[in-house]
Amino acid sequence: MTETSPPDGPDLAKGVPLAELADGGTVLGQVGGEAVLLVRQGGELFAVAASCTHYGGPLAEGLVVGDTVRCPWHHACFDLRTGRPVQAPALNDLKCWRVEERDGRAFVREERPAAEPPKLAAAGLPDSVVIVGGGAAGNAAAETLRREGYQGPITLFSADRSQPYDRPNLSKDYLAGAAPPEWIPLRSDAFYAEHRIDVRTDARVVEIDPTQKTVTLSDGGRAGYGALLLATGSEPVRLAVPGAEAPHVHLLRTLADCEALIARAESARRCVVVGASFIGLEVAASLRARGLEVHVVAPEARPMERILGPELGEMVKALHEAHDVVFHLGATLAEIGEARVRLSTGEELAADLVVVGVGVRPMTALAEKAGLAVDRGVSVDAFLQTSAPGVYAAGDIARWPDHASGDRIRVEHWVVAERQGQVAARNILGQGRRFVAAPFFWSQHYDTVISYVGHAETWDRLEVDGDPAAHDCTVAYWRGGRRLAVATVGRDLESLRAEVALEQEALG
Ligand SMILES: Cc1cc2nc3c(=O)[nH]c(=O)nc-3n(C[C@H](O)[C@H](O)[C@H](O)COP(=O)(O)OP(=O)(O)OC[C@H]3O[C@@H](n4cnc5c(N)ncnc54)[C@H](O)[C@@H]3O)c2cc1C
Ligand code: FES
Repeated sequence: MTETSPPDGPDLAKGVPLAELADGGTVLGQVGGEAVLLVRQGGELFAVAASCTHYGGPLAEGLVVGDTVRCPWHHACFDLRTGRPVQAPALNDLKCWRVEERDGRAFVREERPAAEPPKLAAAGLPDSVVIVGGGAAGNAAAETLRREGYQGPITLFSADRSQPYDRPNLSKDYLAGAAPPEWIPLRSDAFYAEHRIDVRTDARVVEIDPTQKTVTLSDGGRAGYGALLLATGSEPVRLAVPGAEAPHVHLLRTLADCEALIARAESARRCVVVGASFIGLEVAASLRARGLEVHVVAPEARPMERILGPELGEMVKALHEAHDVVFHLGATLAEIGEARVRLSTGEELAADLVVVGVGVRPMTALAEKAGLAVDRGVSVDAFLQTSAPGVYAAGDIARWPDHASGDRIRVEHWVVAERQGQVAARNILGQGRRFVAAPFFWSQHYDTVISYVGHAETWDRLEVDGDPAAHDCTVAYWRGGRRLAVATVGRDLESLRAEVALEQEALG
């Protein structure tokens, strides 16, 4: 996480000549020592805090779209009128200031009070909401219900021992030792208490009954609901080779998994990472930062090639090799011993730590048992409702109709899960919102970030602009004459523009 540097720019309280601020333009300045972004859009003037409330991304380098501003780092979107985060991953409001226009100048005046949630009439609303899953989607849904003015009881059951936390950080800064523990929880106990969100950790739901509208917990407890959101996420796939259950073999999904891995990494010297996709390679980078020797074993010819194509696959490989990661590609693991692993090629590698990152599986068992429609994920409609009325699904488990590709898709991205949680919450309140956000994810390797918008499981044309080796490029994935997805490195604004274009196509 990085904070933007102390503000320098002009003092916006002293006024900015409007002649210097074209429509759609922005000025980065400061007011009372705080960095403020002044925006002129559609003849109106807005002033908001210049730093994104997610990880402090510089909004002056983002994109103004209508009366919103989008962050260049992970595409949070804020309402310029209220400062409210209208799209994850930011969860907190931006501060807003009143702007006065006088004598051809724009003056930023006093800070405006935070927007209050709307007052909702209870008629037609569910008398209670139960959320199963305390991850990205579940937490975002609970918060959104309150933001939208829902007053009824909200109970969030999570099988995890910890309250909702920033899962993507577990393979990045936190694992590398660069993020302190206090950055990891998404919210404090006080936040949940203040918003009357009843978070029950270590509480596994074992059955749902959509007819009786109840959920049953592993300890036999039961709870009724007016509306239900399923957001049970994924579980890591385990290796089926001898030695896979040994204590020095680690998976990474939960905070507890991460703590166990950090504890082991403190005394380990040589790690074999199994799998060369996002989690495996982020773990490789973080363990290199901790000074471990890292070898990566994977069956493909180039890491991430299936998702990103050969050019970016080559870039990722070279980037890790430049940090002394050793690849053993075209190989799988055959056996894990106490101090060595054997590969399918017969090669043996020393290893006192093994991290397995070979993919995840959506946790659909509850939905299947309840008789909901399931098709390699829980089937939902464009409003994220399952085949049972009043039961919604969001995040890694949900397979929804994607407008851009025309396919029913399921993705495993943090921002998508949060945005789906937000949309599902609004639909629980009867707002009838389609989920049209273009899928977005980012992946960080050392100081290089890959941003990806859209979804292209397959493509018939791949267009590369720029130089992947220089970490400055845009790769577009086309199928049947449609641009389905865009990956960028070092071009955040292009990634935002591609996101907006994909969303506008989806809206027709
Ligand atoms: C280490 C790591 C790094 C990642 N990095 C990135 C990244 O950089 N960018 C990105 O886009 N994505 C990333 N992801 C993926 C991203 O975290 C997931 O897509 C996202 O968390 C999915 O959100 P979700 O709410 O669907 O599920 P989750 O966040 O997995 O939450 C599911 C919750 O449901 C609970 N649960 C499951 N079953 C039950 C039950 N029966 N009863 C009660 N509770 C239950 C679980 O305990 C958990 O709390 C990463 C994932 C991991 C593991
Ligand atoms: S820093 Fe703005 S979205 Fe992450």
